[in-house]
Amino acid sequence: MYHHIKKLMYTVNVATPDPRFGNMLLEQFGGANGELAAAMQYSIQGLNTTDPGLKDLLMDIGTEELSHLEVIGTLARMHLKPLKTDREAAERDPLIAICGGGGVNLYNSEGNAWTADYLKITGEPEVDLRSNIAAEARAKIVYERLINFCDDPGSKEALQFLMTREITHMKAFMLALDSLGRPALSIGKLEPSPGIVDQFFNDSTGKGDDGEVDMRGPWNKGGDWEFVSNPAFTTVRDAETGERESDAPSLPNVEAASKAAASDSHSSKQKRK
Ligand SMILES: [Fe+2]
Repeated sequence: MYHHIKKLMYTVNVATPDPRFGNMLLEQFGGANGELAAAMQYSIQGLNTTDPGLKDLLMDIGTEELSHLEVIGTLARMHLKPLKTDREAAERDPLIAICGGGGVNLYNSEGNAWTADYLKITGEPEVDLRSNIAAEARAKIVYERLINFCDDPGSKEALQFLMTREITHMKAFMLALDSLGRPALSIGKLEPSPGIVDQFFNDSTGKGDDGEVDMRGPWNKGGDWEFVSNPAFTTVRDAETGERESDAPSLPNVEAASKAAASDSHSSKQKRK
């Protein structure tokens, strides 16, 4: 059950409206990492879970995100207000001025409509909690960028509050994930295939124009890792043809390859005519 209380979670003050900044704020209203997306993602995940602890966590944070939506919506509306009456401001964003009457609507900063495709809901807590941690991290960085582009002290304060809450939620989701008591790589129920799971394929090789070379780090070195060099040129096992050797690697003839690509694209254009 939802109940609306006629006050904001954080008081919003705007000294000088800045319609362009108001437009940027819409990213957190109707954008991919915005408050509505967060509110819907967590609340729908909460509806889907039967775990009472997880449900409570998801509904608590999902509901707080709705309160954030109200704060960011109020802030954006205050900055967009000149679009109601100022012709010059209205010309900058006819979608808001003419279609929306100078108010907020569920669009992102580019005028793209909000979509449920933004939501990540799998019904598996170890997956959904990771999506939520990532969502909070993305929202945090969007708020940080908005703060960096903001001149208005009152707006900055509200954005600082919203940014801070993303870290609070991130912490709660991380601890909830931890409380599941599952090893970090345990996802779903089926076990991954032994051996293959520990192979790191070095699929990007050679020396780049800026001197880039193959790098080693904890992501492909030490522990259980087996570093597989040039897997495209090693023995491959195929269900139909059995085991086979690939051709030995040879250095690519860059000039010939680019000539071939150019002639391919020329002949395909000819065909299209
Ligand atoms: Fe939020």
